[in-house]
Amino acid sequence: MTDRYAVVGNPVSHSRSPWIHAEFARQTAQDLAYVSIEAPLEGFEAAVAAFREAGGSGLNVTLPFKERAFRLATQTSARALAAQAVNTLAFGPAGVRGDNTDGIGLVRDLEHNLGFPLQGRRVLLAGAGGASQGVVQPLLAAGIATLTIANRTPARAQSLASRFPGVRGSGYGALAGECFDLVINATSAGLHGAAPALPAGTMDKAGLAYDMVYGRDTPFLAQARAAGVRACDGLGMLVEQAAESFLIWRGVRPDTGPVLKALRDT
Ligand code: ATR
Repeated sequence: MTDRYAVVGNPVSHSRSPWIHAEFARQTAQDLAYVSIEAPLEGFEAAVAAFREAGGSGLNVTLPFKERAFRLATQTSARALAAQAVNTLAFGPAGVRGDNTDGIGLVRDLEHNLGFPLQGRRVLLAGAGGASQGVVQPLLAAGIATLTIANRTPARAQSLASRFPGVRGSGYGALAGECFDLVINATSAGLHGAAPALPAGTMDKAGLAYDMVYGRDTPFLAQARAAGVRACDGLGMLVEQAAESFLIWRGVRPDTGPVLKALRDT
């Protein structure tokens, strides 16, 4: 019987996940179907229950439901616990397992696809919303030297940082005069044609500037290029987090390279 999966979000019609998982299934000869489900804002839990009752095997969860998925799961992985958010649900006889593959997806894209080892790096993470929350613990686990979380609303950065030992939280202005090896934009500013207000010079010595947004050029990426810094969007993170979800569900890790290449070429 064909196993059924889906991504649930609002909005979700733009999601590339159905295409990515169909490619993974073809590549690994797994018999599965993967669709997208737009749940009403008040109806996330009901949509999950209906999918499960209809025989679904697992779900990816995207904006704005990741925190609610964390609360809904009956068992959560260490990385989901650290993120306080879940992007992967797996249904089984024992209940609903919740995991979070966003952070490991980012780490894999940086280290494997982009050839940027994280060990010993000074990392700046711009933004303190859901996208940042999911990646702090995996970045720390990858052996970075320091992590600074900066945000337009400094209190949010401080609050997120305080959950992890040794992590600093601040506003953007406080970074004046500092340099980082890697600058990650986890704000949604790029979706509104804006960039986080990093002080001049913050990314000048960075080996990489990474925007988690994909499918569009952002002012953050343009600033990085103007400073002579290598600039990358978040498409690789999308594919890698999907591959980690696929691994959880199917026990097999697809080869992400050809899938990422095909997405870049379209
Ligand atoms: P989400 O649920 O998508 O994570 P969020 O929790 O509101 O949404 O987080 C969005 C992040 O992008 C926040 O860090 C936000 O900064 P504030 O906490 O100060 O709101 C950041 N962000 C959004 N638009 C921005 C902009 N134009 N400039 C700088 N930061 C911005």
